Amino acid sequence: MPEILRKRALCTGIWEYVVEAPLIARKARAGQFVIIRLHERGERIPLTLADWDAGAGTITLVVQAVGKSTREMAERFGEGEEIRDVAGPLGTPSEIERYGTVVCVGGGVGIAPIYPIARALKAAGNRVVTIAGARRKDLLFWLERLKKVSDELIVTTDDGSFGRKGVVTEPLRELLQRGGVDRIWAIGPAVMMKFCSLVAREFGVPIWVSLNPIMIDGTGMCGVCRVEVAGETKFACVDGPEFDGTQVNWDLFLARLAMYRDLEERALKHYLGTVEERI
Ligand SMILES: Cc1cc2nc3c(=O)[nH]c(=O)nc-3n(C[C@H](O)[C@H](O)[C@H](O)COP(=O)(O)OP(=O)(O)OC[C@H]3O[C@@H](n4cnc5c(N)ncnc54)[C@H](O)[C@@H]3O)c2cc1C
Ligand code: FES
Repeated sequence: MPEILRKRALCTGIWEYVVEAPLIARKARAGQFVIIRLHERGERIPLTLADWDAGAGTITLVVQAVGKSTREMAERFGEGEEIRDVAGPLGTPSEIERYGTVVCVGGGVGIAPIYPIARALKAAGNRVVTIAGARRKDLLFWLERLKKVSDELIVTTDDGSFGRKGVVTEPLRELLQRGGVDRIWAIGPAVMMKFCSLVAREFGVPIWVSLNPIMIDGTGMCGVCRVEVAGETKFACVDGPEFDGTQVNWDLFLARLAMYRDLEERALKHYLGTVEERI
């Protein structure tokens, strides 16, 4: 079973794991992900391949502890522990070409998946401008890594505690107003990707976003990850996770994400009610 070789806290609630996975490391490409299961009874968690080292046979995963399984991973899985399954690489790789000038936008934990894309775009000969944003300074990470693969790095925080005060769409708009941007990648919270896509459309610049719907099998069988793009149903796990942001039906995507959140809240309330009745 794949062993966790290194684990470190990157910032508040976000952890970096280096995991032994030689076959995946050999095949990994920017934009792809893995699905892990911590133990026999574990849920399946999709996580982006944030980095990999084919020589050392390792992959790097960056995990934000947001719910049941990611918290369990952060709290109970450390160096030397084994992960039950790591399946991948999954998903269609990013379309890396020499476009000219590209802007890579990473928001929150989206900073991790934007890194290998920025690195691959730089290696392909592009001029890379990276925008990294977070709510506060203590939620930022990997800025040095991003700097190494970017010609220019712009950092924003919502509260102004580091870098420029504001949200990522503001410097994005300014860069597009200046002109000369050939393509954009944006990865982060769904709302951030939606607004980046609206700005990109205003200026007629192509934009890729990486969608993060709920996933189960990750191989196009269950249909849980379906999204609507250009009026057609797509499965994010096999057709994506990257799509043309101007063609995504954002209202439907956001409603489906919210629906799962509501169901979880209702299930929790029901469970707590049942417990209270028993007491
Ligand atoms: C292709 C892909 C790549 C991803 N890459 C990363 C990554 O590199 N790092 C990382 O930290 N997270 C990543 N995610 C999100 C991650 O998979 C979820 O946060 C995780 O599955 C939540 O599981 P949980 O059991 O901890 O939370 P749950 O207890 O299931 O849910 C807790 C909260 O998280 C929300 N949630 C559940 N699943 C998702 C999801 N897929 N996306 C967003 N919110 C979700 C729920 O609605 C709920 O509000 C990725 C998701 C996808 C689809
Ligand atoms: S996760 Fe099942 S079809 Fe995509």
